Amino acid sequence: MNRLTYEEYRNLWDLVARKPFLTGFPLHLDVELTSRCNLRCEMCFQRHLEERRSDMPLATFKKLVDEGAREGLCAMKLQSRGESLLHRDLVECLAYAKEKGILDVHITTNGLLLKEPMIRDLVEAGLDLLILSVDPFHQEASGKSRKEYIEFIQRVIRIVHEERKRVRESRLKIRIQTCVEDYAPENIKDLETENRRLFPEADLVLINPVYSSHEDAPHLSELGRYRFHPCSYLWQRLTIYADGQVTTCSRDYNCKFNRIGSVDVSSIRELWHSPVMRDLRARHLTGRRREFHICGICENYLIHKKTGHPGAGCTGTVYDLEES
Ligand SMILES: C[S@@+](CC[C@H](N)C(=O)[O-])C[C@H]1O[C@@H](n2cnc3c(N)ncnc32)[C@H](O)[C@@H]1O
Ligand code: SF4
Repeated sequence: MNRLTYEEYRNLWDLVARKPFLTGFPLHLDVELTSRCNLRCEMCFQRHLEERRSDMPLATFKKLVDEGAREGLCAMKLQSRGESLLHRDLVECLAYAKEKGILDVHITTNGLLLKEPMIRDLVEAGLDLLILSVDPFHQEASGKSRKEYIEFIQRVIRIVHEERKRVRESRLKIRIQTCVEDYAPENIKDLETENRRLFPEADLVLINPVYSSHEDAPHLSELGRYRFHPCSYLWQRLTIYADGQVTTCSRDYNCKFNRIGSVDVSSIRELWHSPVMRDLRARHLTGRRREFHICGICENYLIHKKTGHPGAGCTGTVYDLEES
């Protein structure tokens, strides 16, 4: 069982978001159950994946959870590049993680495969956060009209809401995540208001910028106008792909640039304290983040030099250290 309460873990998470405080084990793991997806959205790096798509075997998933549970892992997202609803053992994976005491388990999904029995199973298995990606890219890729698409998502959210009321111990929160081309503060506000109106049962709405997702392209235009800050991912989390490869984040969707190793040959603890991770952290902290190809074109933890607006992540919380 986890040694921290949910509130203690959230306090620790907030601390690590503000200061580069290194814990003995990652607080959070993105564990990709499958790299397959049922859509090919226009903006998404799914279109650029070079590897053969695969599913994580249940035994591998359980091995990761077992190590996490021993080490006090607090949070997991059961997804990275793919659509987790395509994995046949999704509910069993979720239930296993919750039984082993992982405090906060998330799934991000386009929601199109969410039907009533699956929603019931996910709520009963103890899902903590359901992140629904809702935007014009997903609508287009789904082949539905805007009206059909919005009505579909509204229905999904209503069922989730009913189920979480029915399952007494459920702590499930619903987040609507929308990515937009125009990331100006006024537009972000308008979209938040619109999403709150359309989806009143949602607990959180988050607006992200659409970044250029190809691994060779700057993610934002005019990158030179931003200050680069250290990326707090390096102190918070690791990403484990379905084939066992480990990297910093899904920005490295082909696992070519920030590859840390593989869970087939190393433990998560070993990877977290490996020379590659130590080097990433040291260079991020000393103004050399851009020496890593992907970190040098990534939209995360950037602040616009003139306006002070974040490149991504509306809160703009960054480690205020040496500028790079
Ligand atoms: C890669 S998808 C995988 C999960 C699931 N298939 C889905 O669509 O939610 C994870 C998230 O990345 C977001 N995403 C993908 N490409 C993006 C881009 N170029 N800019 C901003 N967000 C992007 C999606 O909108 C989604 O919320
Ligand atoms: S800066 Fe971007 S590419 Fe580098 S670790 Fe952070 S999220 Fe990933």
